[in-house]
Amino acid sequence: MAGRLQGKVAVITGGCSGIGLGTVERFAAEGAKVLVGDVDEAAGGRLAERFDGAVAFRRCDVTEEADLAGLMDAAAERFGGLDVVFNNAGAGGARETLAEMTGEAWDRTQALLLRSVALGMRYAIPHLKRRGGGSIINTASIAGMQAGAGPIAYSTAKAAVIHLTRLAAAELGRDGIRVNAICPGLILTNIFTPADMIPPGMADMVKASMAQTAPDAQPIARAGQPADIASAALFFASDESAFVTGVHMLVDGGMFTGPRQAWDPEMRAERQRLMEERRAAFEAAQAEGLAD
Ligand SMILES: NC(=O)c1ccc[n+]([C@@H]2O[C@H](COP(=O)([O-])OP(=O)(O)OC[C@H]3O[C@@H](n4cnc5c(N)ncnc54)[C@H](O)[C@@H]3O)[C@@H](O)[C@H]2O)c1
Repeated sequence: MAGRLQGKVAVITGGCSGIGLGTVERFAAEGAKVLVGDVDEAAGGRLAERFDGAVAFRRCDVTEEADLAGLMDAAAERFGGLDVVFNNAGAGGARETLAEMTGEAWDRTQALLLRSVALGMRYAIPHLKRRGGGSIINTASIAGMQAGAGPIAYSTAKAAVIHLTRLAAAELGRDGIRVNAICPGLILTNIFTPADMIPPGMADMVKASMAQTAPDAQPIARAGQPADIASAALFFASDESAFVTGVHMLVDGGMFTGPRQAWDPEMRAERQRLMEERRAAFEAAQAEGLAD
């Protein structure tokens, strides 16, 4: 049976780890040819070897305009065209609060998470047009929709990616180019354990503890996996989403639905128990007052 992406050529940025890597694996399994753009050259080399021709790697720093232009050109050159672009590379960016922020930290984060998406689309457009259209998928985040899910510079960039996606969809629809965003919730990847912040050897511990607490974070009681996002990316990349453009899809296990008491029966029961305790105390106090 033909794969759902048979005959398509895709570029995936940040494809050497986490969500990007999960999507490379899924796209290749569905018959796509994939060019991965990432700064991790060692992992990129290993990835290309693993897939024997279906996946290629090119060093690309998404904060560099020329790298992004070169990546899109290289995909078309190597595989004969370009149909799908997943603008996904990213990292946590500046950790500063607003009160501590510097212009340099802010700009660096926006360049990594927002400008990269705009320019990734920009340099893909001529190639997608040449094929009569295509699909662009941008990685945003639940952090772009609510407070508390990421640092301020990161969350602002991700909110902008959602709107940029909508604007690009409006601009490019007549060219047959669809543009959609995915907003992952908590997905177990290396993004939470950057090498410059977490000492070697501790990353696995951090991930294990995240996996342990994930079931308490959302109605679907497990940690999100890269494969969960890859499935959404596959939908947007394939012709099954032919009439879908300008949307942002949350893939978050339901985290955005509401506070924990909305979906955790144990917490609801605990609140009920507390209410009953208070009522009993109130009634007892009243009865005492009457008896005096
Ligand atoms: N993991 C989550 O819970 C989560 C939630 C919401 C959004 N996201 C977003 O998903 C995307 C992928 O993150 P992930 O969780 O898979 O993280 P990850 O750290 O596992 O993978 C990120 C990849 O991007 C690459 N990268 C980083 N900076 C780059 C640059 N300047 N140029 C090119 N490549 C670069 C890294 O080398 C790595 O391969 C990011 O945009 C992130 O913001 C992740």
